[in-house]
Amino acid sequence: FRTLDQADVKGKRVLLRLDLNVPTENGKVTDVTRIERAAPTINELIGKGAKVILLSHFGRPKGGPDPKYSLAPVAAAVAEVIGKPVAFASDCIGEPAERAAAAMQPGDVLCLENTRFYKEEEKNDPDFVDKLAALGDIWVNDAFSAAHRAHASTEGLGHKLPAFAGRSMQAELEALGKALEQPKRPVAAVVGGAKVSGKLDLLGNLLDKVDVLIIGGGMANTFLAAQGHPVGKSLCEPDLIPTANEILAKAKASGKQIVLPVDAVVAETFAANAPSRVAALDEVGPTEMILDIGPRSIEHVVSELELIKTVLWNGPFGAFEIEPFDTGTVEIAEAAAELTAAGKLVTIAGGGDTVSALNHAGAADRFTYISTAGGAFLEMLEGKALPGVEILRAK
Ligand code: 3PG
Repeated sequence: FRTLDQADVKGKRVLLRLDLNVPTENGKVTDVTRIERAAPTINELIGKGAKVILLSHFGRPKGGPDPKYSLAPVAAAVAEVIGKPVAFASDCIGEPAERAAAAMQPGDVLCLENTRFYKEEEKNDPDFVDKLAALGDIWVNDAFSAAHRAHASTEGLGHKLPAFAGRSMQAELEALGKALEQPKRPVAAVVGGAKVSGKLDLLGNLLDKVDVLIIGGGMANTFLAAQGHPVGKSLCEPDLIPTANEILAKAKASGKQIVLPVDAVVAETFAANAPSRVAALDEVGPTEMILDIGPRSIEHVVSELELIKTVLWNGPFGAFEIEPFDTGTVEIAEAAAELTAAGKLVTIAGGGDTVSALNHAGAADRFTYISTAGGAFLEMLEGKALPGVEILRAK
């Protein structure tokens, strides 16, 4: 595919698709990893005299404007990281976007509002794509972590404008390609986190690629429910229980190992230092929520890590943003980092929350490779083609 080396961007309006879907708390960005990874592309385009127009989704709004999901505070964080002003337009198409784009000089940066404020974004609607395309001369895709989505701004634009891969996209594809080609075995995947739908169903395919599948976080609760354990008020997707059962049956039939929590930390409220207790799996009360894995589960996972050679990690083990529910993630991350530093384990991790959890645990620097991508990383692992990458190859 074509990279920025082939792009003539001087004086051109460059629609730069980033993944600014970063973790925030009370409107403040809490982890800037994705922005830092995008900075070289932004700076290169500025340096080459382009008019840089940033496009991104943020969160999962329901296809209409929602102030909770405005990109305005994220645009401010981008300005801070690159040390240059970033203008903001209150809409990603129409008059506000057109007016702001028309006012740009070469070297200026403009961030457009959340593309998911239009349901047409996720539908990859051709009229919506045309409206976005009208704002630019060139499309640069630097959102590897959103490349598993065939949406208007991640794929559709590649059909309308000359398309190029940004530097972060390029670096991720090179690093992960190398790491996943012939991993040292046994290989384990760790899959956790709160984004269950859309991820749980791919675990079946993942079983074909790995020797051990370690399931934690919100994802584990649906499996525990499938095994008949009470999960109280925990995050759980009852609709996916049949899928969870199929995955458990597939593992059994193929001799692959699935590691699930054997105990849990539960609380009645989801708040910092809320009263909590360690519960056996059958003791979770109807008003309780599972917010982390318990001490026996931590020991179990760490002993599994000692037996394998490569771990591919996506998603935290518990609600790591809130103490003390970060304990499972922090202790396992520390053990993985130590094994890596001792040359015994290759650790590859990906995902917005995962990276922020590993930074919080102080373990990220010792991991072998950290990708910005979560879902896209898992789909790449699964062996799937990513639409946001394929469209760059076709050009
Ligand atoms: C991510 O954070 O993994 C990407 O930004 C994709 O987000 P999505 O799962 O809401 O499409």
